Amino acid sequence: MSEEIRIKSHRGIYSAVFDQNAIVNLNNNPDPDAVYLIDTNISNIYNNELDDLLKNCRVLLIDAKEENKSLNKLPDYINELVNVHQIRRGQALIAVGGGITQDITCFLASTLMRGLPWYFYPTTLLAQADSCIGSKSSINSGEIKNILGTFTPPDKVIIDVQFLSTLESRDIHSGIGEMIKVHAINSPESFDRISKSYDEIIKDKDIMEKFIYESLLMKKKLIEIDEFDQGPRNVMNYGHSFGHAIESATNFAIPHGVAVTIGMDVANYIAFRLGISEMSHYERMHSVMNKNYRDFVSIKIDIDKMLNALTKDKKNTASHLRLILPDKEGKIKIVLQDNNAEFKSVLNDYFERVYA
Ligand SMILES: NC(=O)c1ccc[n+]([C@@H]2O[C@H](COP(=O)([O-])OP(=O)(O)OC[C@H]3O[C@@H](n4cnc5c(N)ncnc54)[C@H](O)[C@@H]3O)[C@@H](O)[C@H]2O)c1
Ligand SMILES: [Zn+2]
Repeated sequence: MSEEIRIKSHRGIYSAVFDQNAIVNLNNNPDPDAVYLIDTNISNIYNNELDDLLKNCRVLLIDAKEENKSLNKLPDYINELVNVHQIRRGQALIAVGGGITQDITCFLASTLMRGLPWYFYPTTLLAQADSCIGSKSSINSGEIKNILGTFTPPDKVIIDVQFLSTLESRDIHSGIGEMIKVHAINSPESFDRISKSYDEIIKDKDIMEKFIYESLLMKKKLIEIDEFDQGPRNVMNYGHSFGHAIESATNFAIPHGVAVTIGMDVANYIAFRLGISEMSHYERMHSVMNKNYRDFVSIKIDIDKMLNALTKDKKNTASHLRLILPDKEGKIKIVLQDNNAEFKSVLNDYFERVYA
């Protein structure tokens, strides 16, 4: 696909391009001045394809685990970049991996020597269809997830869907969860379009590429008007308050985008039961949500733990939960909801009657 997406940011315009030869080009024409931060799984799986790059360039391998995306690991990365690889001002950091590799690279690029250029080759579906644009970096501190961060857009994003052929099915479903989300936010019609193509997307990489492109265009509209997440961009958290609560209640056994899918289904159910939306919207969206999370329904979700995590969500006010729910037209909106007995009983109903 030859389309390029150009995104306006506080640092100027950057672009996301699609290139099914990127793996070959990465190996044949590396930037000799850059340091490559590469996911260890990518360097193992693509050892042959990235042979020259791995042998001849300065490489920092990242084991893509949440505990490695944390404040106490930063001194190791800084030591390797500065003392071992002797990085200099103006030299680029180039990330090749998923959201974890992205967050580490983006955070280092925004702080090391007060700022280095950075480039991104996303290798997971979640990173290609969602996180690669939008400027955010997030680092964990101890048990507190994503509490440190910056807004630092990359200089360029290069998307090669060939990387997705080796991705595990759980990570495909995780990425599709975020794609469904941005389509639902864009309009009920966009949601219905991606729902109809659900099976083809998984089977055909060109159709997948087209929907990644569409998802990024939809996200672009929001981040260009609200790069710093002060208002309109907040709707991108659809499914996320419940999703984060589910991740935390299950000890992260459910991948992020799948937990978000369950979270959107919960949000739609609650919205219709509380009279905020119509049953028809919940039903219209339920079958594809269920398809995307059904491999994980055997993982038990403890509702008390979930409620506990939900009330701690930093987006809430003192007495209300700040939720993102569909309205009667199926438009995704921010709603303040009383954290009362009715809310709890509807949430219980969802898990007892619907979630299976
Ligand atoms: N900065 C942002 O805007 C933003 C947005 C959403 C999520 N995130 C963060 O992203 C992280 C999740 O990212 P993710 O879901 O992309 O996954 P990830 O980086 O955790 O990778 C998931 C797994 O897939 C493996 N992998 C990566 N590419 C592969 C490939 N092509 N083939 C086979 N295996 C491959 C990785 O080694 C890892 O085991 C979380 O830490 C989340 O907080 C950041
Ligand atoms: Zn998300």
